[in-house]
Amino acid sequence: MKKTIALLCALVLVLSLCAACGSGSSSSASTADTSSELSTLEAGKLTISTSPDFPPYEYLDDNGSIIGIEPEIMQLIADKLGLELVIDAMDFDSALLAVQQGKSDMVVSGCTVTEDRKLVMNFTDSYTTAKQVVVVPEGSEITLDTLGDYTIGTQRGTTGFIYTSDDYGEDHVIGYDTYTLVFQALQNGQVDCVVLDDAVGEAFVAEIPGLEILETAYALEDYAFGVDKNNTALTEAVNNALNELMADGTVQSIIDSYISE
Ligand code: ARG
Repeated sequence: MKKTIALLCALVLVLSLCAACGSGSSSSASTADTSSELSTLEAGKLTISTSPDFPPYEYLDDNGSIIGIEPEIMQLIADKLGLELVIDAMDFDSALLAVQQGKSDMVVSGCTVTEDRKLVMNFTDSYTTAKQVVVVPEGSEITLDTLGDYTIGTQRGTTGFIYTSDDYGEDHVIGYDTYTLVFQALQNGQVDCVVLDDAVGEAFVAEIPGLEILETAYALEDYAFGVDKNNTALTEAVNNALNELMADGTVQSIIDSYISE
């Protein structure tokens, strides 16, 4: 996995640029497009919203292109459906909102399945599991039991943010737009620790010296893709394609190419 801190920092810039272009209005497509019978936001296209600050699931390569486990899986799904994949980058909170407000067909962003989210979007089957973990400065005294005594950094809108706010109160939690900013805050001492998804925590810890991950996980979760709640046909089609890619081992081999364990 190739990534640099400089690259992650560049994300901040990209995200602010994308904020300007992310909300273009599009009308619902008819089924007139010949490449697909599926109705999507833009005919013939599958528009997904994502927050590409989340290596190895979605992040930027040296050229600023969005790469990672999920873009790879989604490209194969779009191919199977005969749709052109369009990836819209934004912060995570906005990516969740986009699929609820008809601004994207899907949110594909390391998205954990939760009961609350099920109310506002359709989920595909889960394609992998993850854990919420705690990243601390090396040698820190923080443990899972004393987490509530500290200031916790998270990304806004994430399960890490929601769970820690519920458990310790919002006064103990600071939510940032991107994980790049979360880890800058940790390095600057603005937060004492970070709660986030395990593989992503490992990716940042590998890049930033002096950090470690607490052994005990904070929560277990399932990742899936969130689909426009009004688009049942798309949910079904994407889910079928995803299940084919899981059944033939493709999904696992993509995951294994990014996460070695
Ligand atoms: N799995 C967590 C959630 O669904 C965090 C996802 C953050 N994703 C991202 N691309 N930054 O809330």
